[in-house]
Amino acid sequence: MTSVTERDIRLLRDALGPLRDREQVAERLLESSAKHSFDPDKELDWDAPVEDGKWFWPPELVSLYDTPLWRRMSEEQRMDLARHEAASLASLGIWFEIILMQLLVRHIYDKSVTSNHVRYALTEIADECRHSMMFARMIQKGGAPAYRVPRVYHNMARVLKTVSTTPGSFAATLLGEEILDWMQRLTFPDERVQSLVRGVTRIHVVEEARHVRYAREELRRQMVTAPRWEQEFTRLSCGEAARVFSVCFVNPEVYENVGLDRRQAVAQVRASGHRREVMQSGARRLTEFLDDIGVLRGPGRRLWKSSGLLA
Ligand SMILES: [Fe+2]
Ligand SMILES: [Fe+2]
Repeated sequence: MTSVTERDIRLLRDALGPLRDREQVAERLLESSAKHSFDPDKELDWDAPVEDGKWFWPPELVSLYDTPLWRRMSEEQRMDLARHEAASLASLGIWFEIILMQLLVRHIYDKSVTSNHVRYALTEIADECRHSMMFARMIQKGGAPAYRVPRVYHNMARVLKTVSTTPGSFAATLLGEEILDWMQRLTFPDERVQSLVRGVTRIHVVEEARHVRYAREELRRQMVTAPRWEQEFTRLSCGEAARVFSVCFVNPEVYENVGLDRRQAVAQVRASGHRREVMQSGARRLTEFLDDIGVLRGPGRRLWKSSGLLA
């Protein structure tokens, strides 16, 4: 029988290290899911009437806030725009969640079905199922349309969610989750906002914290283990995702739907210092993390800057 040396044990421990870590992370996330999960259908009062004089989204987070156009709008028109933007962001959220669900299903396809890692991924898919239904119900309740992203990006994502297995998919996931999450953290405690919207954003923030953790851990792991070309590819695709994200963030149809000139509104949002500050603050936690794990380098970093999300 061959003897096992200290070195063998160390090598074995190193090899198992990341795996064990992954299982531990998933175990903690499963515990948290067991304690803090919500059924929005039961948790929220869907029959309550829309509240007069309350916003569907905090005004400071509305794209046109503090622009010359905003200053000329009536309070009623501002509140109307907030209602449409809330519907636009909820639609964007559903788009992201549907993409994420498919990525997660594909992520676990070859993995051990009894592992915590897979069990947690299935739990997260169940969370996202409830979220998408909740967002759709919120859009209907507000009476604004469900806004789609432009067809070209809708189809680009069709390819991504079908073939991508790279760390780039987790980076894109975080992009979708973290900026909206930052806005929702400001929305749920805000007493000027509709109770239903506060309830929806509170549930989402609580459950989303786990998703962010899971995606971050996975991305960090993959950026260490992926071959060099894939790391480079991730930097580029993540920068491109940031660019697409900033274009799709608010659907410009919202401006027409509240009686504004679309071109003029888009130009003023682009020129708005307040808006730039909001978007960069929303992205900061994420960009610091991505910088830390080496995603924000080279040409990818330039794409991030051109997206306006990175100062
Ligand atoms: Fe979600
Ligand atoms: Fe999520």
